[in-house]
Amino acid sequence: MLTKNGVKLNSIIKVENLTKKFGDFVALDSVSFDVKKGEIFAFLGPNGAGKSTMIKILITLLSSTDGSGIINGFSLIENPAQVRKSIGYVPQMISVDGALTAYENMMLMASLYDVPRKERQKRIREILVFLKLEKFEKTLVKNFSGGMIRKLEIGQAMLHHPPVLFLDEPTTGLDPIGRQDVWEHLLELRDKFNTTIFFTTHYMEEAEDVSDRIAIMNQGKLAVIGTVSELKKKTKKANATLDDAFIFFTGGELSEDRSNFRDIKRGRAMERKLG
Ligand SMILES: Nc1ncnc2c1ncn2[C@@H]1O[C@H](COP(=O)(O)OP(=O)(O)O)[C@@H](O)[C@H]1O
Ligand SMILES: [Mg+2]
Repeated sequence: MLTKNGVKLNSIIKVENLTKKFGDFVALDSVSFDVKKGEIFAFLGPNGAGKSTMIKILITLLSSTDGSGIINGFSLIENPAQVRKSIGYVPQMISVDGALTAYENMMLMASLYDVPRKERQKRIREILVFLKLEKFEKTLVKNFSGGMIRKLEIGQAMLHHPPVLFLDEPTTGLDPIGRQDVWEHLLELRDKFNTTIFFTTHYMEEAEDVSDRIAIMNQGKLAVIGTVSELKKKTKKANATLDDAFIFFTGGELSEDRSNFRDIKRGRAMERKLG
């Protein structure tokens, strides 16, 4: 049992035998795992492994074909509205409007998330200060850097103070400084509010640096779950890295060049979209 300062941590996400089929194609094949309250949990796997599909099911955007999931004590199937109140979501694709200011983007989401009208302004200010974006509240978001956009999206996902944040590739396409800035804020969020953070990434170094535990998916199946050192140990290789573990459990390869190319392409697409 995972403990923190000697206190037992409860599961805030519990997934049992979750299966998702698209027609005959099995995108998720009877996946089971749980995430403890306050954990930073990395959900890794090659492209097409089922990461985004899992997140979409856990935030009730997609329904599962079989199996069950409980978030913050609420069933995905029986209490989807309560699940939605318990979670914040930063999607893989960009989710801010470049033609609006940072403040306007936040206000739009505050009404979508049903933040009480009287509290909206105060909460937005608090979050902009927390993310060190307060100087830019009147700036059009199309003039933001990639890192600032990601922070704003995280801010939007925090407006209703959810206990769990889902982030789908939050740092893809960011430069190292942007990535570090995003993570400094996510770690602070966890430390201050004990927010559980469930995220996907293609950067093994990042997963290793921030995660309490890691799950590696491969072709819709959970290949392994554990701490970084547990995963490394299972490769039975001396001085194994997380890259080694990833390759060991997915049979795939990590192509630095390919991922960089994709990042650049995505970065460009982001610019086009906001321009
Ligand atoms: N709406 C959909 N209809 C059909 N196939 C889908 C749909 N969404 C995802 N898939 C397929 O499911 C698999 C897993 O996709 P996804 O969860 O996006 O993977 P990942 O995020 O790990 O890259 C992929 O083969 C993808 O093509
Ligand atoms: Mg994905």
